[in-house]
Amino acid sequence: MTGVLRIEGLSVSYGGALAVDNVALAVPAGRIVALLGANGAGKSSLLQAVVGLVPSTVRQLSLGDTDLAGLSPERRADAGLSYVPEGRRVFPGLTVRENIEVGMDAGAAERGARVAGMLALFPDLADKASERAWRLSGGQQQMLAIARALVRRPRALLLDEPSLGLAPRVAQDVFHRLRAIADDGVAVLLAEQNAARALAIADEAVVLAHGSILLSGAAARLSPDDPVLTGLLAG
Ligand SMILES: Nc1ncnc2c1ncn2[C@@H]1O[C@H](COP(=O)(O)OP(=O)(O)OP(=O)(O)O)[C@@H](O)[C@H]1O
Ligand SMILES: [Mg+2]
Repeated sequence: MTGVLRIEGLSVSYGGALAVDNVALAVPAGRIVALLGANGAGKSSLLQAVVGLVPSTVRQLSLGDTDLAGLSPERRADAGLSYVPEGRRVFPGLTVRENIEVGMDAGAAERGARVAGMLALFPDLADKASERAWRLSGGQQQMLAIARALVRRPRALLLDEPSLGLAPRVAQDVFHRLRAIADDGVAVLLAEQNAARALAIADEAVVLAHGSILLSGAAARLSPDDPVLTGLLAG
């Protein structure tokens, strides 16, 4: 398997209960891998293990030439891994601009340039740069959460259910944006329950059920109506 993000033999257990069971997957630069699965399949646990937020055992976890296993979440982020958790966690009391600047480790001039770059990429946010984040719509908050992750110029971007709770058209906007981000060279790992929407923009898909990958392949070859897929997604 090739890929800028490589995961092999990754398992997560909570007090003896296996939530992710010996998973292997790779995400090449410029590609979107959709991580599909029913409620409780292990999608969030897998992403959190990759970013270092839950303990895991793993045979290989690397980003380019960097071995991520054993690194703190901060060091993994420094190595080029960005994560957008479920639920659009923006800082409601900070402005849009401040939200994007938070956590960016760069000098003032560089920071200004990067924020300007993000505002150019997300015109909806540019209009609201000085507004506090709580005033944004759900879709705008999701875009802001993505901008915050992207401003660090990650090599790999992991997202946990970015379409959750968004109106279909807004979700579609978010997904088109993810496609553009990948086309720019970022490796994108997208956990989603909405298989149809994820398959429409993904290059590859892996389907988790009870912590194991039971199905994987080119997204174009998987139909969201495929009975095997719908069976797995039903849990
Ligand atoms: N912090 C935790 N402590 C104990 N068990 C957990 C914890 N987090 C998740 N689990 C369990 O691990 C399994 C996988 O959960 P996880 O949240 O990773 O699945 P998911 O695919 O993200 O589900 P969802 O679609 O609901 O977000 C489930 O059985 C869940 O109950
Ligand atoms: Mg989840």
